[in-house]
Amino acid sequence: MSHLPALEASLELAVTRSGDPQPAIYARLFALHPAMEAEFWRDGSGRIRGEMLARSFEMVLDLAAPHAPEGGQGIGGWGSAFLGTEAVTHDAYGIPRAVFADFLPIMAGVIRDTCGDGFTPAMAAAWDLVLDRAAATLAALPGSSMEARVIDVDDVLPPRDERGIFFPMR
Ligand code: HEM
Repeated sequence: MSHLPALEASLELAVTRSGDPQPAIYARLFALHPAMEAEFWRDGSGRIRGEMLARSFEMVLDLAAPHAPEGGQGIGGWGSAFLGTEAVTHDAYGIPRAVFADFLPIMAGVIRDTCGDGFTPAMAAAWDLVLDRAAATLAALPGSSMEARVIDVDDVLPPRDERGIFFPMR
């Protein structure tokens, strides 16, 4: 049995009820990890956050899809591979693995809460599968130091009005 239709239905319902879930998802991320908001200092337009979330939803859809021939519960496929590479990429951004691992549960929580009483057991099972596969993928990765690297932008960049030319904002 594929969990994908239930996962898709949860996204459709959430968007029908509340529109774009992006503001709620990032609000929840920054409420849980206030120091992380500054990590998006390059993202003047919001496009990086938009791309990050769009790719994450794409990944969620893949993680919900059957991969093993019998539709089994193993990890594998593009979604797992993408999650693994992004975990390593985010090491270089200075995002601790433990914070990185919170993002999918935050997305799941916002979709569940937005669906409210329309969130069915089948939708819950689909999201549980996604979260289980993601956790298994991250647990199987080689470790990182998990140390947060918090940057004070004003310590490392030229004065704010001279930055644009050297550090293009997207
Ligand atoms: C499932 C988890 C996550 C995935 C799949 C993911 C994916 C991505 C992707 C694809 C980008 C590149 C966007 C672009 O420039 O086109 C990105 C950028 C970024 N992500 Fe994530 N992300 C995740 C979790 C997080 C978390 C929890 C944080 C914590 C704050 C974070 C912080 C960042 C930052 C700061 C950037 C921008 C880096 C820069 O170019 O300046 N990410 N992410």
